[in-house]
Amino acid sequence: MDTLVMDSTRKSQSSPSLPLKTRIALALLSTVTDTSRRSDGTINRRLLKLLDFKAPAKPNPINGVKTSDVTVDPSRNLWFRLFVPTQASDDLPVIVFFHGGGFAFLNADTMAYDAVCRRFACKVPAVVVSVNYRLTPEHRFPSQYDDGFDVLKFLDETKALPENANISGCFLAGDSAGANLAHQVAKRASEFKFRQLKVIGLVAIQPFFGGEERTESEKSLCGSQHLVSIERTDWLWKAFLPPPEEGKEYDRDHEAINVSGPRAADISGLAEFPATVVVVGGFDALQDWQRRYFEWLKRSGKEAYLWEYPSMIHAFYVFPELPESGQLISQVGDFVHDQCSKL
Ligand SMILES: *[C@@H]1O[C@H](CO)[C@@H](O)[C@H](O)[C@H]1NC(C)=O
Ligand SMILES: *[C@@H]1O[C@H](CO)[C@@H](O)[C@H](O)[C@H]1NC(C)=O
Repeated sequence: MDTLVMDSTRKSQSSPSLPLKTRIALALLSTVTDTSRRSDGTINRRLLKLLDFKAPAKPNPINGVKTSDVTVDPSRNLWFRLFVPTQASDDLPVIVFFHGGGFAFLNADTMAYDAVCRRFACKVPAVVVSVNYRLTPEHRFPSQYDDGFDVLKFLDETKALPENANISGCFLAGDSAGANLAHQVAKRASEFKFRQLKVIGLVAIQPFFGGEERTESEKSLCGSQHLVSIERTDWLWKAFLPPPEEGKEYDRDHEAINVSGPRAADISGLAEFPATVVVVGGFDALQDWQRRYFEWLKRSGKEAYLWEYPSMIHAFYVFPELPESGQLISQVGDFVHDQCSKL
């Protein structure tokens, strides 16, 4: 079955029912990112730094997972946080993870992402590599994709991972902008010959895609409980795209944004493009674009699965207080095991 719908009992409401804790966190996150975005397209990093709470790497296990930071290229501050489950296993899959934040915000050591990756590492279980890629607008397209792909090459060429990490069973995962990034890295990886590394699955959690057109979900789902709004995404795409040529406007129908649109890359011939899961929330303004992405994958002849969470907002799974967050993490575990056992 290609489409799976999770718990639709709350679907009939017109706005999501969220615990107070989640609503406060959403309001804070929106306020912080909105106030740090300047109208000239730059970001007040000094202000952000005060409010982006970081978690240090912890060599002593917490919830059965120890963490450390690994440098890939100091000249561009490219590094990743490594999550290693301590339970004995001689063959662990590897998940290369890309955090969300519109390509402009957050880091691999942001507290919420440290916590999410620890949950993946412990629950799947898997060795998780959470990539600290460069951010926009200081570093525009395609820096993020280059960084993501270079981490795969680094994992393939060095012995950075523990002995029991099996890079022939490698998954790419990410949410929001991180899922867009994971998709592009999967595409590049499927055109490249690694020594050992093999990408066998892609988990695109509420990917950040867009285009010139305004979809129904973009127009109808906005307001205080939503992280995504047209004003915010337009700003983020502008920060991401290379500046247009003289006399031209920014064009969101770029291949990286309108990924399944008329200028889409043709992936139908990429035999190595991995099996892909697309996760969609019923209260996410980006859902129309995400469904088109899923349909485009199917049209391109790819193995693809759509997981619907009808009562969920954008970024729901970073909030551990929502039961659907735990559901998604265990579903990802099932997907990882299924793909590994197919080989
Ligand atoms: C963006 O892609 C969609 C298909 O997903 C297409 O319908 C739309 O026309 C594209 N936008 C433009 C203006 O090309
Ligand atoms: C590594 O993972 C692949 C894919 O799941 C599997 O075929 C292979 O047997 C694993 N290798 C080891 C050494 O466990």
